[in-house]
Amino acid sequence: MSEVLELVDVSVVRDGHALLDDVSWSVKEGERWVILGPNGAGKTTLLNLASSYLFPSKGTATVLGDRLGAVDVFELRPRIGMAGIAMADKLPGSQSVLRTVLTAAYGMTAHWQEEYEDVDEERARAFLDRLGMTEYLDRRFGTLSEGERKRTLIARAMMTDPELLLLDEPAAGLDLGGREDLVRRLGRLARDPYAPSMVMVTHHVEEIAPGFTHVLMIRQGQVLAAGPLETELNSRNLSRCFGLPLVVEKRGDRWTAQGLPLS
Ligand SMILES: Nc1ncnc2c1ncn2[C@@H]1O[C@H](COP(=O)(O)OP(=O)(O)OP(=O)(O)O)[C@@H](O)[C@H]1O
Ligand SMILES: [Mg+2]
Repeated sequence: MSEVLELVDVSVVRDGHALLDDVSWSVKEGERWVILGPNGAGKTTLLNLASSYLFPSKGTATVLGDRLGAVDVFELRPRIGMAGIAMADKLPGSQSVLRTVLTAAYGMTAHWQEEYEDVDEERARAFLDRLGMTEYLDRRFGTLSEGERKRTLIARAMMTDPELLLLDEPAAGLDLGGREDLVRRLGRLARDPYAPSMVMVTHHVEEIAPGFTHVLMIRQGQVLAAGPLETELNSRNLSRCFGLPLVVEKRGDRWTAQGLPLS
């Protein structure tokens, strides 16, 4: 299996402070990773590296076989799909949902004068349908609820047929029904052998969809645990990661975690 992402001794330093500190991590083709860690741990920084929007201060980062710093990022970026909160702010709120997804095919955030091919429109419709957004094609992006916006961003990230799909807290802000709906859809994607390799940042183990295979836990920019969910997502690692006693359990194919009651 080939490497989709390979970080070797990577540090990212800003204002003398290491946001990532000597991180080594590799993702192989077809794997579906979850990244867990407290606020400020460096999760989004890691995704920004993986999407080539940020370079290491030290160490080497290889994304889809190309080493950052030695590759034209404008050729690399269309091969990576990224859905995160930062992206939502860059998209014009007055644009329709369908256009919002379509512009991704051209690596743009706004619709200028470019002509779209029918085949692109069909793809955009198909991805939106897969995420339950068919009823919203003509709605303005800016008028969507948080959950609808999240689903649109995932459809948008799929539009370039990426080899690597990066999701930053896709279920944050969703109500219980919305979360469960998204977990089901992500589970379907995660189990699809033709879907891209995936990395999802989340704050809640309840949001890990069946089909995800690996977990990376980080704290203060350092890797605490990395490996298969079945062996690494345990109470000991999660407690160390969040700095308090936690019990993690698997029920069926879903995870839950809670703090130990105070004695
Ligand atoms: N450009 C920057 N300059 C200085 N510090 C930064 C910069 N960007 C991020 N940071 C800091 O780096 C740390 C990691 O940020 P990051 O956004 O990766 O955290 P995170 O794990 O995604 O957190 P959250 O769960 O809150 O989203 C934070 O303490 C943040 O304040
Ligand atoms: Mg973040």
